[in-house]
Amino acid sequence: MGKAHSMAYALAPGVVDLDVNIVKHTLVDAVPEVAAAAAERLGWKHSSSDWRAVVESDDVDVVDIVTPPQFHQEIAMAALAAGKPVFCEKPITNDAAEALRMAEAAEASGLANQVGFNYRHTPAISLLKQIIDHGELGEPLSFRASYMQDGAYFIDDFGWRSAKRTGGSGAVGDIGSHVIDLAEYLNGPIVRVSAMMRTNGGTAGASWLPEDERLSQDLTDDAGTWVAQFANGSIGTFVASFQAYGRKNQIRLELDGTKGAAEFDWNRREELKIARADDRVEDSGFKTVLVSDAHRDVWYPVAGIGIGYVEGSAIQLARFVEAAANGGTSRPDFADAAHVQGVVTAIQESARTGAWVEVAAARAATVGA
Ligand SMILES: NC(=O)c1ccc[n+]([C@@H]2O[C@H](COP(=O)([O-])OP(=O)(O)OC[C@H]3O[C@@H](n4cnc5c(N)ncnc54)[C@H](O)[C@@H]3O)[C@@H](O)[C@H]2O)c1
Repeated sequence: MGKAHSMAYALAPGVVDLDVNIVKHTLVDAVPEVAAAAAERLGWKHSSSDWRAVVESDDVDVVDIVTPPQFHQEIAMAALAAGKPVFCEKPITNDAAEALRMAEAAEASGLANQVGFNYRHTPAISLLKQIIDHGELGEPLSFRASYMQDGAYFIDDFGWRSAKRTGGSGAVGDIGSHVIDLAEYLNGPIVRVSAMMRTNGGTAGASWLPEDERLSQDLTDDAGTWVAQFANGSIGTFVASFQAYGRKNQIRLELDGTKGAAEFDWNRREELKIARADDRVEDSGFKTVLVSDAHRDVWYPVAGIGIGYVEGSAIQLARFVEAAANGGTSRPDFADAAHVQGVVTAIQESARTGAWVEVAAARAATVGA
């Protein structure tokens, strides 16, 4: 992900007119040789293996954290204490209480703080948000989302992602958190969930282990599914999986409202499908629009030119840099991400107990704003 951020910082000034220059000052990695080689390849001026010294350096204006999640809190807290705006990759941490402490520290600091739920910055998602906020889909009824990958079949060593003790978040906390963020951005806070989570212990192709066996072995989940109730009364169904053959980073959303419906598929990320209740009966149904020209942040304002993962990352980092430079705020912030983590924690508890679990109400009132 450090590679994606490095490319995105280079692209950001071309995507958005920023009134500041971005200098890729120091790239940090725990391993000095990795830091030096990556800094040279990805265009950073310096490298270091001492994140604390870099965070406290007067030469550094903002801090961007792209380590595994178990290190996010310590680095973010140190950066805020040093008066630096912070961008932190998702999940903000793997622990809801820790996430709340980070959100409180960020709010108290008054500094810009943003979390890497990059998919909400996709132009089609921004347009969908406008359509929903204008009331064009009517009252929300139901929301469906899935995030499916087949990476577990092709990657032999999942590294730190394989176990909770090395900071792994599982399919629900890692990729599921993205669709929770998208759901809360578009449809407001989730208030309660009922869930199942499973793993097969890293033996892709074998069947799922029962949940109590997964937990007793401290294994992360390979797949989870949950139903959710939103504060606005609508109902949701979700699934996230690392073991879905043929699904190439496939993120799908479907929303139904009293006046219309919408569909989005990340694998066709320039297309937004919309159906409106007042369409003529003869041609009612989903219409597809190419949306990239409808967005102020696209790098070239013509539909069909193309928006990729790195462009979306550049849009999110440009927004962060703008907020950091101007003393403003940017979203999703630590408080939004803490609420997402609260949902993940509720899903985990529900999967363990089999019961419905309420989501703690950390800033629920403004989630989705
Ligand atoms: N938003 C997205 O689409 C997206 C995609 C992939 C990963 N991520 C997130 O990015 C983060 C990193 O994931 P990744 O896939 O790049 O992991 P990775 O294992 O590929 O890279 C992590 C790097 O951090 C370094 N590191 C570990 N501990 C460190 C420390 N204490 N100080 C300095 N460097 C340290 C490691 O040496 C490694 O080079 C995670 O939070 C992950 O969830 C986000």
